[in-house]
Amino acid sequence: MVGIAAVGGFLAADLGTMLYARGPLGSQRRLTPQAFVDAFHTVAGVHRGYRLNHAKGVAVAGYFDSNGAGAELTKAAVFRAGRTPLVGRFSLPGGDPAISDTTAAPRGLGLAIGYPGAGQWRTAMLNLPVFQDNSVQGFYDRLLASTPVPGTGKPDPAAMARFLADHPETAAALATIKQQPPTSGFADSTFRGLNAFYFVDAVGNRSPVRWSLSPLRPVMPPPTSAVSPNWLFDNVVRDIRSTPLRWRLLVTIGEPQDDVRDATIAWPADRRTIDTGTVVLDSIATEAAGNARDVNFDPMVLPEGIEPSEDPLLAARSAVYAASFRRRAGVTGAAPQVEVGSVAQ
Ligand code: HEM
Repeated sequence: MVGIAAVGGFLAADLGTMLYARGPLGSQRRLTPQAFVDAFHTVAGVHRGYRLNHAKGVAVAGYFDSNGAGAELTKAAVFRAGRTPLVGRFSLPGGDPAISDTTAAPRGLGLAIGYPGAGQWRTAMLNLPVFQDNSVQGFYDRLLASTPVPGTGKPDPAAMARFLADHPETAAALATIKQQPPTSGFADSTFRGLNAFYFVDAVGNRSPVRWSLSPLRPVMPPPTSAVSPNWLFDNVVRDIRSTPLRWRLLVTIGEPQDDVRDATIAWPADRRTIDTGTVVLDSIATEAAGNARDVNFDPMVLPEGIEPSEDPLLAARSAVYAASFRRRAGVTGAAPQVEVGSVAQ
C-alpha cells in the first residue's frame, strides 16, 4: 500500500511535468515552474522536504458517500451512489512549515477521492468565497509583493499597495473575502474548489461546475483570546478524535454567461446547486510515508467525467505542484510540524 501510494504521487507529478512544465506558464517568459520555486524560496526561505506552499499540514482519511445525484451531470464513478474511500490533508498556506496558526490565514483542504485508483479525483480547496488572483502572473506578482522586509519581518505595505493598484481584480476579491468572516476552525469551514471545471455525462454533455464542501456541524466564531501557535490543528485533531467530521459536497452549475476563466468572481448565488452526498473525515494522523504527505493534490488529476475548464490557473497549478512534489519527494529528515500524538485529549 505504501509503495502504491508513492507511485500514485509520482505518476501525477510526471504527468504535470510532461504536459505543462516545459514552456512558460504566464504571459511573460520568466514564468516557468522554476520561477515559482525561486519565488516561494525568496518569500519563505528554503525548507527542504516540505511543500513549497501549504507546508504546514496534517493527514486525514475518510470516505465520500455519494447519493447518486451528481450522476445526472457526470459519468465519473465517484458520483454513482455508493461509498469511495479518500485521503486528505488540512493545511495553511505559506512555505514555512512552522508558521503559527492565525484566524485570518486561508485554510486548505486537499482530497484524493478514490486514491490510489485509476478513477481517482484530486482537488485542493480553500475556505474562501473566491480566489485572490485570476492570472498566473497575478499570483506570482502577489507572492513576491508579500516578501517580508528584513527588520520588520512583514511585507512592504508600499509593494502590496502597488500590486493592488495594478490588479483591481485582486483588490475586488479581497473585499469579497473580507465579507466572509472566518469560522472557529477547519471543522466548520466551507471549502471551495474555486476554479471551474466541466462535468461530462455519458453522452458527452458538458456542464460548467464549481464545487464546495458545506459543513454539517454548526458554524461557530473563531477564538478571540490568545491561543497557542498550533490551535487550529490541535482543535481539528480533538474534533476528529471525538466524532467524524461531515460536509455536504455541493456542485453548482454555471450558466452560459458565468465566467469559467476567472476564479476571483463568484457565480450568482441563485445558480442551481446539487447536493451530491457527504464527505466524512474519520481519522487524522501526523504526516508520514504512505499517507497524504506523499500525495500531490494536483487539481488536474481528474477521473473520466470531470475535465478542466479554460481557467489558466489550472495548468499552472499542475506544473508548479509537480515542481514542488519533485523537490520534496524522497527527502528525509523533514520533521512533521503537526504532531497528532502530542495533542492532549
Ligand atoms: C497559480 C496559482 C497557484 C499556485 C502557483 C499554487 C501553488 C501551490 C503549491 C506549490 C503547492 C504545494 C504543492 C505540493 O507540494 O504538493 C500548493 C498547495 C496547495 N494549494 Fe495552491 N497554488 C495556486 C492556486 C491555488 C488555488 C486556486 C487553490 C484553491 C482552490 C489552491 C489551494 C491549495 C491547497 C489547499 C494546497 C495544499 C494541498 C496539500 O495539502 O498538499 N491553490 N499550491
